[in-house]
Formats: sequence, C-alpha cells, structure tokens
Amino acid sequence: MASRIVLFGATGYTGDLTARELVRRGAAPVLAARNPARLERLATELGGLETRVADVSDPASVRALVAPGDVLISTVGPFMRWGEPALEAALGAGAHYLDSTGEGPFIRHVFEDAGPRAEQAGVGLLTAMGYDYVPGNLAGALALRDAGEHATRVDIAYFWEGGSAGGMSGGTQASAAGVSLEPAYTWRTGKLVSERGARRVKRFDLGGGRSAQAVSIGSSEHFALPRLGRNVWDVDVYLGWFGPASRAMQAFAAGADLATRIPGVKAGMGALAAKLVHGSTGGPDAAARAGTRSVIVAQASDAGGKQLCSVRLVGPNGYDLTAAFLAWGAEQAAAGKLKGSGALGPVDGFGLDELEAAATGYGLVRA
Ligand SMILES: NC(=O)c1ccc[n+]([C@@H]2O[C@H](COP(=O)([O-])OP(=O)(O)OC[C@H]3O[C@@H](n4cnc5c(N)ncnc54)[C@H](OP(=O)(O)O)[C@@H]3O)[C@@H](O)[C@H]2O)c1
Repeated sequence: MASRIVLFGATGYTGDLTARELVRRGAAPVLAARNPARLERLATELGGLETRVADVSDPASVRALVAPGDVLISTVGPFMRWGEPALEAALGAGAHYLDSTGEGPFIRHVFEDAGPRAEQAGVGLLTAMGYDYVPGNLAGALALRDAGEHATRVDIAYFWEGGSAGGMSGGTQASAAGVSLEPAYTWRTGKLVSERGARRVKRFDLGGGRSAQAVSIGSSEHFALPRLGRNVWDVDVYLGWFGPASRAMQAFAAGADLATRIPGVKAGMGALAAKLVHGSTGGPDAAARAGTRSVIVAQASDAGGKQLCSVRLVGPNGYDLTAAFLAWGAEQAAAGKLKGSGALGPVDGFGLDELEAAATGYGLVRA
C-alpha cells in the first residue's frame, strides 16, 4: 500500500499549486497549514481531503503531522527561517521528505547535516525538488552522460523568459531577500568550497543566436552531480534572471558580503529584509505563468576546458514545474521507488531515465 503524502504549507502559493497537482495525479494528500479556515476551504474545494493544523512556532504540531513511512512535502519558507521544524519532523518520524527551497545554505544544511541522519533512519531527503534545482540536475546529468568519460566539469544556468518581476511569488521574494546575505558555495577540484554569492558572471548560449549572462549561486547540483561520475571535479551553477544587470548584481553581492562582515550588520539587514519583503502574498496567475518559459543550459567540458556537450532544456513556468516535480517526486517516494536513503539529488534519488520521462511528461524537453 502506498504511504500517506502530507503537504505542509498547502495554503501558500506553491503549496496550493502542489495540492492541485497531487489531486490531478490521483493522490489524496493530507493538507497541513497554520490557518484552519483557509485549510478547510482548500480541502473542500479539492474534494474533501484530510487536514491538519500545524505552525512552525510550535514544532510539536509539525512533528504530529507525520508517522513512519509517510512522505512529507514542505513548502513553508523562507526555509532558513521556517524550514527546520518540518525537516526535523521527517527525520524524527522516519518519513521521506521533499521541499521547495531554492536557498543554498538550507540545501547545504540538508546535504551536510541532515543527510547522514536520514541515511541512518533509512529515509530519503529530496531538498530543492522544484524549478530550483531539478531541471539543472537533469540537464547536467544528461550533458555528463552524453559527453562521455572525458568530461570533468559541468556549468549549468537557469533562465526564465517572457516574464517580468511580477512573475515572482511573495514567498520567492522573501527567500531571495534572506539568501542574498548568506555565503554561497561551489564544487571545485573535487570538493565543496564556500564563496560569496554572484562571485562569477558567465555568458551562456541560449540557441537561435541568443546568449545571456548569469551569476553564480549555491544549489543542489554541487552535491548531487559529483556522485554520478568519479571524474566530476568542477560544478558551477548560475542564475540568469538578471540579464544585463548581472554585473550590477555581482557588485551588490560583493558589497553585501563586505557589509555583513561588520558585527551586527547582517542581523540588522536580515531583520529589515524580513520586515520589508513579505511572503504569503500570492504569485503569478495561470495566464501570467503561461506567458513565461524556463530555459536551462548545461555544458560539460574536459579538463582542458574544451566543451564536449551542451544540453538545453526548455519548458513551462518555474512555479508549474515546482508543483509538478514535488507532486511526482512525492508519489514516487510514497510508492517505494526512491533509490537509496540520505540526502538525495533528483537523479540519484529517482534515476536519470525516470526523471527525464517525468520532465518530458510536463513539457520540459531538450531543445
Ligand atoms: N524551488 C523553487 O523553484 C521554488 C518555487 C516556488 C517556491 N519556492 C519557495 O517555496 C517557499 C514558499 O513559496 P510560496 O511562493 O508558496 O510562498 P508563500 O505563498 O509565502 O507560502 C509560504 C507558506 O509558508 C506558510 N507559513 C509561514 N509561516 C508559517 C508558520 N509559522 N507556520 C506554518 N506555516 C507558515 C504560509 O502559511 P499561510 O498560508 O498561512 O500564510 C504559506 O503556506 C519559499 O521559500 C519559496 O522561495 C521555491
């Protein structure tokens, strides 16, 4: 019998999309959130689903959501502020865990700190199981596979075409504000190296004679792709949302890095960001999402820097992809199809062929 899927954060923008996708796929998730009235409304609209009230300020209420063998999806973010109780609840109960974070420091925490505990407990942790950072894991794995044994590095970049700033949910803005003050990392000569965010700017070929700049970030590919081949010495991941403003973004990040070394400044800026940038304010509607598309590029190269293979994936809006991958991934985990335990990437967690087939089903395809 398939395990229960519990969706924490169901009343948020991404949680709502994920709940609908789970139901569309035939699942009957338990919906969990802090506001009982909104929770009941959603559960009734989706056909009378079970509900649970839980609040991260009361970790026992989050722990009570899951039992051994369950699958917990959390879309309660920003994760560096509110993510821990759900992660702890899954580890404590012996439940598989998926989240929608895009925050590098939280991803690092899941892989480095929580992963070994999950391995001992025999459960899987699939962090960043959305637009951040499933497509880059897929594109990177395909590029490394097709490049063959001489590939030693992979560069990945995420672009979002056709939208504007209004295309971001309140939750994404709140998470981005928090993460801009935190250190990033990369995978260099076979190990994880801390560095500031936006340390590098790189131009990527988008096809059709177009190219665009992107800034370096810390993500899940740095942990997950080196596991796929003994020769993967360097992994760099970039975010291409800033276009021609990438250099300005780099300068801002360098300034923030310096400023936050002054005692008290980081805490002050963090508190200000939390005050000014709010989550739970909704996000782009279906029409706005349909007007944008995701483009993800992965380039595999050899030790001499010669590019051996380039993969370009194009597909739907990032929020639709996030709901899709969370729902599909939870369903796979509930059906006992996870390959291994501990902190897993989407490729080692589900298999490259399985992940590519799921992505294709959602319209994320090689261009
Ligand atoms: N990886 C990706 O590509 C991707 C895509 C989408 C979103 N995200 C991330 O996912 C997170 C959610 O995004 P979103 O757009 O859905 O934001 P959102 O609409 O602000 O949702 C945040 C959720 O957290 C809940 N929450 C806040 N404080 C809580 C508390 N004390 N106890 C329990 N729940 C609490 C909110 O509850 P209420 O509904 O009661 O306010 C809401 O359900 C963000 O961190 C965002 O960056 C990532």
